[in-house]
Amino acid sequence: MTRVLPVTGPGHPAIREAASILAAGGLVAFPTETVYGLGADGLNPGAVARIYAAKGRPATNPVILHVDSPASARALTSRWPAEATALVERFWPGPLTLVLPASEQVPAIVRAGGPTVALRCPAHGIAQALIQAAGRPLAAPSANRSQHLSPTLAEHVASSLGAAVDLILDGGPTEAGLESTILDLSGAQPRLLRPGPIAPTELAALLGEVELWEGAVKQGEIQAAPGMAERHYAPRASLELVAPGSGQVAGPGPIAYVAFGHLPPLPESIHGILLPLDAEAVGTRLFALLHELDDAGFDRVVMERPPEGEAWMAIRDRLRRASAKDSE
Ligand code: TXA
Ligand code: MG
Repeated sequence: MTRVLPVTGPGHPAIREAASILAAGGLVAFPTETVYGLGADGLNPGAVARIYAAKGRPATNPVILHVDSPASARALTSRWPAEATALVERFWPGPLTLVLPASEQVPAIVRAGGPTVALRCPAHGIAQALIQAAGRPLAAPSANRSQHLSPTLAEHVASSLGAAVDLILDGGPTEAGLESTILDLSGAQPRLLRPGPIAPTELAALLGEVELWEGAVKQGEIQAAPGMAERHYAPRASLELVAPGSGQVAGPGPIAYVAFGHLPPLPESIHGILLPLDAEAVGTRLFALLHELDDAGFDRVVMERPPEGEAWMAIRDRLRRASAKDSE
């Protein structure tokens, strides 16, 4: 049985226990403001190797280091451009991950052998307290099996990773519900690698132009940017995206139909779910909803395409990947 400890705040004694598990090379799942992370001592290659094993994550996909301050982040880089200072002053602590040239201190396994490191300073009080108690950067991908749905509840971590994790700190549901925005500052132009809670216009307001990454790669191909494989965030049920308002669903098996803003008339056998036309609220709820539909035994989830517009960009990205067919 996986150990799960409820943690009510940053001063909770479970955090000290979690820090000693991390110091011994163990794995601790913890809440952040985006999703739950699967944490290990980010400077201990053996501990980070356990993350890859627990997730079934390919060795080509690097992990984010979580830090408690801009100064700790900077120490892990070999170049810290002026844009990084401006961005962290505005958005840290918070759901923005920066990719920068790595210093020699960063183990190769964290970088998946590449020259860069992804750095994030989470805003969640329990995440901050844990990083401080550990006294090290924490390597932490989302706490789910590779390619599966990200966890927004401690229960999601337990059901996805089970005994592979030594301790789960249960801080309740996560707030943003979608993973951090990832911005690559290692090249000539800032480049958005993953849309998230911080929108491109907010970044562009500080940086000028931001290049958007649209080049998702197929599984098994060499990854132009790590972790950008097309299929990702997938529920067990098959997920199909359809035109809004269609309500045209038929077929065997339990089917759920998810609409935004307005639920069209549906055949009686179809379970309809209405989501609000509010990107932030949908972001918070999206992964939890897909987990619930899986648990309820739906074989197919038919979902209307979310609205256009930048506010919905991260949701469109996750749904496109969640509905991508396995290339195997
Ligand atoms: O919100 C989040 O970012 C959560 C919480 C736990 O902090 N973490 C998270 O980690 O989503 P993960 O590993 O599930 O997703 C991180 C993404 C992966 O797609 C990975 O390929 C990419 O970041 N990444 C990590 N290091 C990178 C690097 N050096 N260059 C480019 N991409 C990198
Ligand atoms: Mg992930």
